[in-house]
Amino acid sequence: MCGIVGYIGTREATPLLVEGLKRLEYRGYDSAGVAVQNGTGVEVRKTAGKIARLEELLTEMPAPGAVGIAHTRWATHGAPTTPNAHPHIDESGQIALVHNGIIENADALRRELHEVGYEFHTDTDTEVLAHLISMLFEGNLEQAVAATLTQVEGTYGLAVLSALDPGKIVVARHGAPLLLGLAENGERAMFVASDVAAVLGHTRKVVYLDDGELAVLRNDGYELMDLGSLDPSQPPRFIEKEISHVTWDLERIERSGYPHFMLKEIFEQPDTVRNAMRGRVLEEEGTARLGGLHGIFDRLNAAQRIIFTACGTSWHAALVGEYLLEEYARIPVEVEYASEFRYRNPVIPENTVVVAMSQSGETADTLAALREAKKRGATTMGIVNVVGSTIARQTDGGVYTHTGPEIGVASTKAFTGQLTVLSLFALMMARRRGMSILQGREIVAALRELPEKVEELLSAQELVSQIAAQYADHPNFLYLGRGAHFPVALEGALKLKEISYIHAEGYPAAEMKHGPIALIDEEMPVVVLAPNDPVYSKVVSNVEEVKARGGKVIAVVSEGDRVLLEKVDHVITVPSTIEMLQPILTSIPLQILAYDIAVRRGCSVDQPRNLAKSVTVE
Ligand code: G6P
Repeated sequence: MCGIVGYIGTREATPLLVEGLKRLEYRGYDSAGVAVQNGTGVEVRKTAGKIARLEELLTEMPAPGAVGIAHTRWATHGAPTTPNAHPHIDESGQIALVHNGIIENADALRRELHEVGYEFHTDTDTEVLAHLISMLFEGNLEQAVAATLTQVEGTYGLAVLSALDPGKIVVARHGAPLLLGLAENGERAMFVASDVAAVLGHTRKVVYLDDGELAVLRNDGYELMDLGSLDPSQPPRFIEKEISHVTWDLERIERSGYPHFMLKEIFEQPDTVRNAMRGRVLEEEGTARLGGLHGIFDRLNAAQRIIFTACGTSWHAALVGEYLLEEYARIPVEVEYASEFRYRNPVIPENTVVVAMSQSGETADTLAALREAKKRGATTMGIVNVVGSTIARQTDGGVYTHTGPEIGVASTKAFTGQLTVLSLFALMMARRRGMSILQGREIVAALRELPEKVEELLSAQELVSQIAAQYADHPNFLYLGRGAHFPVALEGALKLKEISYIHAEGYPAAEMKHGPIALIDEEMPVVVLAPNDPVYSKVVSNVEEVKARGGKVIAVVSEGDRVLLEKVDHVITVPSTIEMLQPILTSIPLQILAYDIAVRRGCSVDQPRNLAKSVTVE
C-alpha cells in the first residue's frame, strides 16, 4: 500500500528519501517518486515500477536539495503508470504533493477545476489536490492546504512542499497514518512518514498525528495544529503532543540472513509466541493478566456478547478466537468481515464488546467497522500488533500482540501472535466466568511449554519441504479442518494462494461432501488438519472420503498418531499440547508448505503481486 517519506534538513534529501522508501517496499507498491524543493524550484522524478528504477533516474538526472517528499504508490485510481505516480504537481510546477488515501469527491472537484481552466494530466484523484492548493494559495502553504482540505471528502495522509513558500513541508492527516520523526544528536532536520520503518534508520523519536491535524515542518522543528483552526482571520490552535520512543530495531526489520522476510518471520515464532505472553501469565492464579484491558474489566465482566471484526488473516485468527471464547468462557461470539460489518446495519445490543483484530492497526475497513461499533455504543477493544497505530489508539482497551514488525506481506508470526493473545484472553475471561483454578493452571503450564514446541516443530522444516517438492506444480489445493482447525485450514489456503498463486480453498472437513468432493481426483492434494482432539475420528472419516476418490492427502497430526499414518500419503507431525493451543502449532507447517511451494515456483514471496501489507483504502 502507498507509502510516504519526507525530509527537511541540511543534508541532500534524495538519498534519505530513497532509503526511507526502501524501508516501505514491504508494503507493496507499483510506482515511486520524489519531489525536491531547492533554490531553483521544485524538481520531480518519478516512475512506474520498482524503487531501483527511480534510483537510476536520479543518477541520470539528480534532484539536489535539502527539502523533499517521496512516495510509493499502490494503484487505486488510475493505472500504475509514470504520470499517475506521485508526487503530483500543480500547473506552475511550483507545488508538489504526495498522498495516501482516496479523495471521494475527486470527480466533482475535477469538473469544477476544469471549468475554471485547470488541465489534468493524470487519472488520479490526487491531482485535484495539487490544483486546488494552487488555486487557493495566497502566499502561505499551510493555509492553502487547510483551505483545500475543507473542500475534500475522503481520506488522506498528505505531504506538500512548494517553491512559492520554501523551507517547509506541510503534512495533514485524515484516515491515513502519518508520523513525524524528530532528528537526534542535535541534527537540524525533521522527517515525516506513513510508517515508522521509514525513519527508524535516523530517529526513534516520533510524534503520531491524529485525524484532523496538520503540521508544518521546518529544519529546526515543527508546529502541530488543529486543521480546522487554520482560518487566516484567526490565530491557529497549536497542539502539544507527547513524543513516543520507538523500541523496534531496524535490524529486526531487516532479513538477518534469511532469503526472505517470510521465512525469517516463520522462524521467529518461538520468540514471538513467547513475547505475546511475556509478563502476562500468572502461574499461581492460573490465569492471564492483560493490563491494557484494565479500564474495561467491568464491561468485560458484564459482556453478554463479543463481536470480532477484522480482515484477511486477522479474520481467520478471530474465527479461532470464537471457538476459544465460546468453549472456555461460554460467551457468545460472532466474527464479522470488517468490510461487511461497516455497511450492514448491525444490531449491537447492550453489553456487547466489539474486538477489532489487526496486525497493522491501520486497515481501513477494520478501522471503519470499529468506529461504527463505537457510534452504536459498543465497548471496543483492540488486538493489534503495531504499537501506537490508529486502531490501538481508538479502542477503549486492548492487548498488543508484541510480535514486532512483520514485513512479509503474507502474515505468519502475526497470526500465531494473535492466536496466543486470544488464548490468554479466553483464559482470563474463562477464569472470571467460572473456570476452575486447576484447569487454569493446566492451561498456564501448557502456555509455558508452547515456545519450545514451536521450536521443535520448526526443526521439521525439511520434511515439509520434501512434500512441497512433490506438489509445487499442482494447480489446485484443498485444505480441510474441523472446529478451531477450520479457520486454520482457511488460513493455510490463504497463505498458499497469496504467495504461490495456486488456487486453494479451505473448507470445514465434513462440509466437503456437499460440494468440493466433486473436485477430488488423483490430481487434487488435500491438506487435512487432524490433531488429536475430540473430532479426530470424524476427521479420519473425512480423510477416508478423500482417499476413496483417489485424492492425495497430506495430514497434519499430533505426535504418536498411528491411524492416519496408514491411510494418507504424507504425514506432518506436530508436538502435542492442550486443545486450546493446538491451532498455533498446526498453522506453522502450513506456512512452511506455502513458503516452500512459492519459492519452488519462483514467486516473489515477500511482495506477492497485487497484494499490500497494510490496506489503508476501502
Ligand atoms: C492485507 C494483508 C493481509 C492482512 C490483512 C488485514 O490484506 O495482505 O496479510 O491479513 O490486510 O490486515 P491487518 O493489518 O488489519 O491485520
